[in-house]
Amino acid sequence: MKALRAALLRFDDDGSPRLEADGLLVVGSDAQGRQVVRAAGAWSALRDDFPGVAVEHLPGRLIAPGFVDLHLHYPQTDVIGSPADGLLPWLERYTFPHEARFADADHAASVATFFFDELQRHGVTTALVFATSHPASVDAFFTEAQARGLRMIGGKVLQDRHSPDGVRDDTEQSLRDTEALIGRWHGQGRLGYAITPRFVPTCSDAQLAGAGEIARQHPDVWIQSHVAENADEVAWVRQLHPGARSYLDVYRQFGLLRERAVYAHCIHVDDADRALMRETGAAAAVSPTSNLFLGSGFFDHEGADRIGMRHGLASDVGGGTSFSPFHTMLAAYYVGREGRGKPGMSLAPSRLWWLHTAGAARALGLEGVVGNLARGCEADFLVINPAATPLLARRTAAAGSVEEFLFALIVLGDDRAIERVHVAGA
Ligand code: GUN
Ligand code: FE
Repeated sequence: MKALRAALLRFDDDGSPRLEADGLLVVGSDAQGRQVVRAAGAWSALRDDFPGVAVEHLPGRLIAPGFVDLHLHYPQTDVIGSPADGLLPWLERYTFPHEARFADADHAASVATFFFDELQRHGVTTALVFATSHPASVDAFFTEAQARGLRMIGGKVLQDRHSPDGVRDDTEQSLRDTEALIGRWHGQGRLGYAITPRFVPTCSDAQLAGAGEIARQHPDVWIQSHVAENADEVAWVRQLHPGARSYLDVYRQFGLLRERAVYAHCIHVDDADRALMRETGAAAAVSPTSNLFLGSGFFDHEGADRIGMRHGLASDVGGGTSFSPFHTMLAAYYVGREGRGKPGMSLAPSRLWWLHTAGAARALGLEGVVGNLARGCEADFLVINPAATPLLARRTAAAGSVEEFLFALIVLGDDRAIERVHVAGA
């Protein structure tokens, strides 16, 4: 066991923040040998409960849960910052050519190494990740995640049509590969598999039906895809599936909406779609830096809350412009404020933080496992330095409330504020 004394951030079940100005976090093994939170709370209340356990004192620091990124593409690490006239030209011009290189296992391994270094520097300890259509890209991803002891979820992209040579897969083979990868990786230590149809336009009906069938056979496996991101994409889906009530409804028809299904974007949706998400237990991965960068639109936070559609935050690298959860939270705030095409609102700083930690974990069905520092949660946590830059130091020192303190970090923070990252306690 070990213990750290510093300010401590965690969340109640209803999402309200609990900031202990002088807190104690005690981590150690549980009955299964996992490194978990044994106690978290005020130093004054816990100081006598763990005699003999060494306490590391970190004055001026904040201990917080590791961030959870609900959607990103590790093979697009080198696509960040590629400008294009919206989603579909961006895919053709940059994304597919880059992804084609992941047929090469050595290339995939070297990008995976860089990718996980980058996630770690930014304090992201769990993520739901697209590989490419090449099974070797999935092996590279999980091999590296396993070596680092991370709780990571990922999968092989399914795309058997409307995709260029080099990334297009074969319907039957793609489904066999998915089954084989589930067998190889799902539930190995902290790893989880996600069935990954890219999006409706690149998947034949047979491939979507096959994906839905695999999802039915493996209820504890995740599903990830994209939906209703961009107006041209939505129009294309309407042509391809004229009988569907909506774009989202195509996924329902193929059995791809359920708990543990996470759909990136959900921008051009209506209340019936939001209700369908709620009723099936599927969740939205809100990707504000990507949506601003590609000009896709503005996620309607008010609509999501009103209907009760589960959602959390995501970087969507490489459409997204940053691995930093601080940048993503700030962009979500900007998107929330936008009030012409939808109701504008000010998302509370603690709400933004929750959406990128405990709320994102809930969207994944991993509430109480990651994303929080409640007793029994896995011990993935950060030591944050709120004085990492002169301006941060000045602004956080002047904060008069928990919300002001968190907002100063969100607006001014970046990887310089992430001093240490503990994965499974270490
Ligand atoms: N829709 C289908 N593929 C992609 C992708 O790689 N990135 C984004 N942002 N949207 C997509
Ligand atoms: Fe994406």
